Amino acid sequence: METTLVLIKPGGVQRNLIGEITRRIEARNLKVVGMKLIHAERATVEAHYAEHKERPFFKDVCDYLTSGPVVAMAIQGTNAVKAIRAMMGATNPLEATPGTVRGDFALTIDDNLTHSSSDPEAAARELGLWFPEGTV
Ligand code: CMP
Repeated sequence: METTLVLIKPGGVQRNLIGEITRRIEARNLKVVGMKLIHAERATVEAHYAEHKERPFFKDVCDYLTSGPVVAMAIQGTNAVKAIRAMMGATNPLEATPGTVRGDFALTIDDNLTHSSSDPEAAARELGLWFPEGTV
């Protein structure tokens, strides 16, 4: 059993995709064990993307993630990390397969709708950042 982090980014919230994305996760028999709609603190987002600190898109992605409300979800299930990554599709929506969230709803890497943890170690670190109070 694994728990992973999913963020629905400001574009996904603004496009009313909270329900659609959550529906797909639940339909896969993964459990929502944490969920909140928040305006993220800059410090949380910068810590979240710390591995990208030297990349040219770091400032833009941090600006974007703090530009409006996001949904943070903790998702639990067998092989949840890999299952969620596959459901979200490739980071660049142009490479995302139809049937994935990005393949169905996104066009550009700057607005790729969701973030999901890349591996179990990243998931543990990111869940600690977004759910310091723990999950249910
Ligand atoms: P995410 O999975 O949240 O991780 C880092 C984010 O930076 C990524 O999704 C994209 O939204 C954004 N990003 C912008 N440009 C790039 C890029 N060239 N490579 C990777 N991520 C990028």
